[in-house]
Amino acid sequence: MHMRWNDEITAEELQREVSPFYGIRVFPALDSTNTWLMEHADLPEGTVVIADGQSAGRGRNGRAFHSPAGCGIYLSVLLKPDSRMAVSLLVTAAAAAACAQAAEEIYGVSCQIKWLNDVLCGGRKIAGILCEGRLRAGSDVPSALVVGIGINVHAFERPAEIADIAGSLEEFAGERKPRRILAARFLNCFLQYYEKLERRTFLPFYRAHSAVIGKRVTVIGSREAYRADVLGIDRDCRLEVRRDSGETVYLSSGEISIRL
Ligand code: BTN
Repeated sequence: MHMRWNDEITAEELQREVSPFYGIRVFPALDSTNTWLMEHADLPEGTVVIADGQSAGRGRNGRAFHSPAGCGIYLSVLLKPDSRMAVSLLVTAAAAAACAQAAEEIYGVSCQIKWLNDVLCGGRKIAGILCEGRLRAGSDVPSALVVGIGINVHAFERPAEIADIAGSLEEFAGERKPRRILAARFLNCFLQYYEKLERRTFLPFYRAHSAVIGKRVTVIGSREAYRADVLGIDRDCRLEVRRDSGETVYLSSGEISIRL
């Protein structure tokens, strides 16, 4: 058993360790940091909301994200990108790369990224990302984008439905470290990528850490599921796969998931 100690994140301490681009707000509990920030999307770009625990953490495709108090980093960043790029796909991938990079640097572990938005350690999911946006009326440019990340930092009791899938950095690395240090490294790393999003500076790291490139996977869409070979990830972060029929398909929908 590891020694337990209180691991509180305070806004003052974290603010000192991150770029002034960010404005940090910490809550003891929220239903969901993404929901809160979507409801306060008029706040400035760079606003970061962190909750010690979430009562209704949300994942992709309407799934719940288990967010026990004191165990993880539950964090959302408000962005106001001004470009027409497929921004949400790129931001999601950049956040996954930043999370994997921060975890590797701080815990000395090696991470893999499962397209699009899951970060794995030793085959178990340690983080997920949910990017949500509002579009400007009559345009495809988002007026606000909320990128939410949940990282399983300390060991936690896993409900049956995620018992075989989820893990935590503490369990994998065998070390307990303050959540604030990882949160700061993630935010600073993400900002470096976000500032150069058009140049895709995150992409070499993202591709090199891919858990799916070169693998045979099952693609699960809303209407069908099929087996395919993953050929690569293109500049827009679409997954390039070859179906058994020989057809090459580029996947970008948020509703698609990949099973290894
Ligand atoms: C997924 O695994 O499908 C994505 C999980 C995203 C969870 C984070 S925790 C902070 C933010 N608030 C939420 O309600 N969800 C995201």
